[in-house]
Amino acid sequence: MTTTNIPHGKYHIWTVGCQMNQADSQRIQALLEELGWEESSMDQANLVVLNTCSVRQAPEEKAHNQLALLKQAKARRSDLLVALMGCMIGNQKTIDALGKRYPHIDLFMKVEQADILPRFLQERWTPVSGAGCLDIDFLPDDETASTDEIPAFDELIPPELIKPTFATSFERDGKRTVLPMATVTQAGKQASPMAIVPKPGERIAHYPTKIDPLPVSPTAWLPIILGCNKVCTYCIVPYRRGRERSRPIDELMVEARSLVTKGAMELTLLGQTIEAYGLDLPDKPDLADLMTSLSEIEGLERIRFMTSYPRHMTDSMIARMAHLPKVCEHLNIPVQSGDDAVLKRMKRGYTVDEYCERIARVRELWPAVSLSTDIIVGFCGETEEEFQHTLDLLEKIRFDVVHVAAYSVRPGTVAARWDDDIPLAEKKRRLHALEEVQAKIALEINQAYIDSVEEVLVEDTNMSHGRLQWRGRNRTNKLVFFPQPEPENTTGPKEVKVGDLVKVRIERVTAWSLQGCAIAI
Ligand code: SAH
Ligand code: F3S
Repeated sequence: MTTTNIPHGKYHIWTVGCQMNQADSQRIQALLEELGWEESSMDQANLVVLNTCSVRQAPEEKAHNQLALLKQAKARRSDLLVALMGCMIGNQKTIDALGKRYPHIDLFMKVEQADILPRFLQERWTPVSGAGCLDIDFLPDDETASTDEIPAFDELIPPELIKPTFATSFERDGKRTVLPMATVTQAGKQASPMAIVPKPGERIAHYPTKIDPLPVSPTAWLPIILGCNKVCTYCIVPYRRGRERSRPIDELMVEARSLVTKGAMELTLLGQTIEAYGLDLPDKPDLADLMTSLSEIEGLERIRFMTSYPRHMTDSMIARMAHLPKVCEHLNIPVQSGDDAVLKRMKRGYTVDEYCERIARVRELWPAVSLSTDIIVGFCGETEEEFQHTLDLLEKIRFDVVHVAAYSVRPGTVAARWDDDIPLAEKKRRLHALEEVQAKIALEINQAYIDSVEEVLVEDTNMSHGRLQWRGRNRTNKLVFFPQPEPENTTGPKEVKVGDLVKVRIERVTAWSLQGCAIAI
């Protein structure tokens, strides 16, 4: 990618939400750094990118607060650009509504279209005409329509930045926007001028692969399948992230190699229902095939993956993963509820018995595996008895980690039409009750680790009780802390650094972590 002619400014990326968002933000950061932009605080930035999450109401409110603050900042400063990405961007309707409410947003962008950023910055940072900036605003109805009044794009912008699917016009009404042809309707000029969205039915199969992600630690994310084809009644993700699109193995191999060259030792493969990987690709590779290919990369020590969906997980897939030494023994497999009636209302597509059978099979095929899950409490109509069934399920399965969320209405989902009848206080009570049961189970599970020797990939340091500790994870995804080895220690390692794979003997545990001493690197 070229950085020619793009004046440098300062950027700030604000991120909330899941690992997918973090992965996307890293990609945007890599792109901006490559363009020569410099990271700064939000106050100092010339470009603020808000990477948003809509899964629950709370993160969405945070983004609205940021947008309100940025509105004030923009009123004071003419050198501030605001870009919005992530799950708050859905279809044209959501974008139009946001554009109306926040006219100070300069760019709506899905990560798939992030390679528009150089063009956007070029236009906003390079004065290309006496009239001001060059803007991309709307397209004529068809390509044969007169473009007389529009200067040829390549006269103004370096050819390598030109993408044929985009068109341009000078600034109108002070609006500076970027819009692909795809969004222009028959009515053309009436199309909303503020967004980048795919054509209806258009399949954007991969990330902007020219943008190499920037690993910031020995662990890195690798999004392998975008979107979700399920319609769980509470969930906004499919409406905002679209249908499943798998990235081809070749493309992923190139990216994975690049991440490893830059220092990544562990890759976490990301997807909403990750076992659906490949179903939409021509030769239908599955997740285990991808892992087999990734395992060949020298220097890559560990492969993780999330999130699993029970019905897509075949025996063959699990058995093959279990035999790949680089694949770590951990599954995140959301159950959401332990009650059949609730699962049905959630439209999860399985019963409690089917879920338990799947788990039993996974444990049979992959005995060393640790399990985490996601649960929603207080979903529409959840009775005390139904909630009790979820507690019973925790006792039965004994997950290593449980992520609990109180149900939060997401406008536009099926469940939003139903009565959100569990009061917040009751949702919180159920959440705490569940966490309490889980803390007891997790502590018991972790106690079995005492005296074991765990392989820990060192990610970071951590100060606790005035003492510097190393922090990392073992293969089953447990957080492990251990102190810097004493210099006079003659048998163990002398010095540890981030990225080391250290053997740690576990001495103490809590429900959330293991603590021990390094015995070898
Ligand atoms: N693909 C994953 C979930 C993605 S959303 C799956 O198959 O489960 C991440 C988590 O957010 C979900 O597991 C769920 O527990 C939680 N979540 C999603 N929608 C929610 C809502 N409306 N209210 C509360 N929690 C929600
Ligand atoms: Fe959401 Fe269900 Fe997909 S929780 S992300 S719709 S599997």
